[in-house]
Amino acid sequence: MINDKINFYFMKKSILIIGACGQIGTELTLKLREINGKNSVIAADIREGNEELMQSGPFESINALDYHSILSVIEKYAITEVYLMAAMLSATGEKFPDKAWELNMNSLFNVLNLAKEGKIKKVFWPSSIAVFGPTTPKENTPQETIMEPSTVYGISKQAGERWCEYYFNKYGVDVRSLRYPGIISWKTNPGGGTTDYAVEIYHNALLLGKYDSFLNKGTKLPMMYMDDAIDATIKIMDAKPEDIKIRSSYNLAAMSFTPEEIAEEIRTFIPEFEISYHSDFRQNIADSWPRSIDDSRAREDWGWKHKFDLKKMSKNMLNSLHAKYEEL
Ligand code: SER
Repeated sequence: MINDKINFYFMKKSILIIGACGQIGTELTLKLREINGKNSVIAADIREGNEELMQSGPFESINALDYHSILSVIEKYAITEVYLMAAMLSATGEKFPDKAWELNMNSLFNVLNLAKEGKIKKVFWPSSIAVFGPTTPKENTPQETIMEPSTVYGISKQAGERWCEYYFNKYGVDVRSLRYPGIISWKTNPGGGTTDYAVEIYHNALLLGKYDSFLNKGTKLPMMYMDDAIDATIKIMDAKPEDIKIRSSYNLAAMSFTPEEIAEEIRTFIPEFEISYHSDFRQNIADSWPRSIDDSRAREDWGWKHKFDLKKMSKNMLNSLHAKYEEL
């Protein structure tokens, strides 16, 4: 028994990523495979991912709501850490509130309970700026503040944060979490989020030279380039447990911009680019979220630093997407 425990603690890191085929999951899996070796990082999702992901290492078909299928993969590969990246985002969540609540909450309970039962040692679970609501201070939103989220997604993330902290305090579960802003990337498309316009705009700029934005002029939201999001995720998971002083979820930030500011930046590369505005139901969601985030706790506690601002990100996005479209 003691030997088993010692083995468990000194065992090589073996990682399971649930939701590995999504926007963040794909790039997280690729990066973790680069760092830890492809056979130490198991990708799992309900559907298969893109070719690069599927060819980069082992894949298991898992429904995040099925505790026993997660457990059998954990046992098969002697998994020590789980990153739970499966979730229904804000815009889709408003169309399917019951499903969003079920997926976002029960997948988390499955993983937290596996950690509580000692089957895994560490958990990463993403939260979001959606935990904030219309009554939250909008500029430089503090770590601790009023949180009255108005979307199903936001309610599920806020409840999830409470449960993470509860499992840490009550059962000693080593769970770590970040409140991601809108994540911008070129490898895999986002799906069903309110911040997705800031990805679509780059594709449309290259393919059509114009973009019709579903968020109005002046809608400023916190955003981050994928490289920074992956860096932050790996950094918080590598931090010493005593440096993780917040067990609900850390505010995390890099930049904030409006649709017209991103359009202006795109025009420095594509001068004829045009933007128009026709907002839909996502405008209400965006209006309920912060405009900028104070992430000083992440910077102080475990040394978070972002690398990409709007200019650097736009250059990288347009170059990468251009190369991708040339290949097709
Ligand atoms: N990008 C997410 C969304 O728009 C926010 O966490 O739903």
